[in-house]
Amino acid sequence: MRCLTCTYSLLLALAIIGAAGGAVDKPKSGIERRTFGKMADGKTIELFTLTNSQGMRVAITNYGGIVVSIAVPDREGKPGDVVLGFDNLEGYLGKHPYFGALVGRYANRIGNARFELGGVEYKLAANNGPNSLHGGVQGFDKRAWTAREIPGEQPALELTRLSHDGEEGYPGNLHAKVVYSLTQDNALRIDYTATTDKDTVLNLTNHSYFNLAGEGKGDILKHEMMINADRFTPIDSTLIPTGELRTVEGTPFDFRKSTPIGARIDADDEQIKFGKGYDHNFVLNRAGHGLSLAARVTDPESGRVLEVLTTQPGIQFYTGNFLDGSIPGKGGKTYGRRSAFCLETQHFPDSPNKPSFPSTVLKPGESYHQTTVYRFSVSK
Ligand code: GLA
Repeated sequence: MRCLTCTYSLLLALAIIGAAGGAVDKPKSGIERRTFGKMADGKTIELFTLTNSQGMRVAITNYGGIVVSIAVPDREGKPGDVVLGFDNLEGYLGKHPYFGALVGRYANRIGNARFELGGVEYKLAANNGPNSLHGGVQGFDKRAWTAREIPGEQPALELTRLSHDGEEGYPGNLHAKVVYSLTQDNALRIDYTATTDKDTVLNLTNHSYFNLAGEGKGDILKHEMMINADRFTPIDSTLIPTGELRTVEGTPFDFRKSTPIGARIDADDEQIKFGKGYDHNFVLNRAGHGLSLAARVTDPESGRVLEVLTTQPGIQFYTGNFLDGSIPGKGGKTYGRRSAFCLETQHFPDSPNKPSFPSTVLKPGESYHQTTVYRFSVSK
């Protein structure tokens, strides 16, 4: 006769070893939720930390849908936070240049803070010289979103909000939904969807500031950048596209082969001067409508690699030219000029006033859908 107790004991022992082994070798994917702070009106804001089984962690707050931190391993497996930001909600409630924010209704600029749609002129806040920038005075980045956790192997956070007809001057009640998912292959995937009850214009993006060496660790001039774009949209002195799609060939904007960001950033070039460095939209080379590779950035020092894939037609490459170290960030660190880069996937700036650009109009009955993936890995 078999010893039942022995079999049970053996199974129990194996289960314990298995569970312990699992806990040591493989972090569990999941979501943690905690209070992040309170808004001026007393509303409690939360911070959600998504973890995958590779140990990558992404913290996101429902205030402005802001990505607060992204911790990913370097070549040696040492984790580091690769995005600029603050330790607490207070920092984000103060003045800052859209660190990690979810930007809408219209990310980037609309020239002369106005556009026409269906024969009606809509006036927006001129919050960037004569232009409207990043959705106006109180854009999507400064609003409390409704959060829902989606646990599982691929933990996700769903954020929703209703932007009322007339908010910041834009027409139509807009239902916006943004889902941040952390995949098992160390990617932060962002799915944007929206519907409207009146014709409107829409351009949603995320404004994370990356430094692959780790936030607060100097400038990003030695990072190597590849942008999958044969053309870019040149700008005027107020950073509004002229309407031209210009070849990057023979210009400081040719990143088709991986090039250090700093190699041509101070070139004697009118476009570089207008941007005070890079602050330009690139016209992505695309194959079809799905996700396609937009950019790849490598930090030779830490070995961290960031790949950006998107369904969008454009990407704003901004090199933190306006950062000046005046805002204390995480752990009191200062973020100086060019201490981070942004790769904001988007429709082209000022599209509502540029009929030749891909349209940003959303009509009732249509559904807006865009996806962007920020995928991390290491080089040897
Ligand atoms: C965008 C713009 C920049 C700057 C930053 C925020 O990336 O293109 O010009 O305004 O946002 O400081």
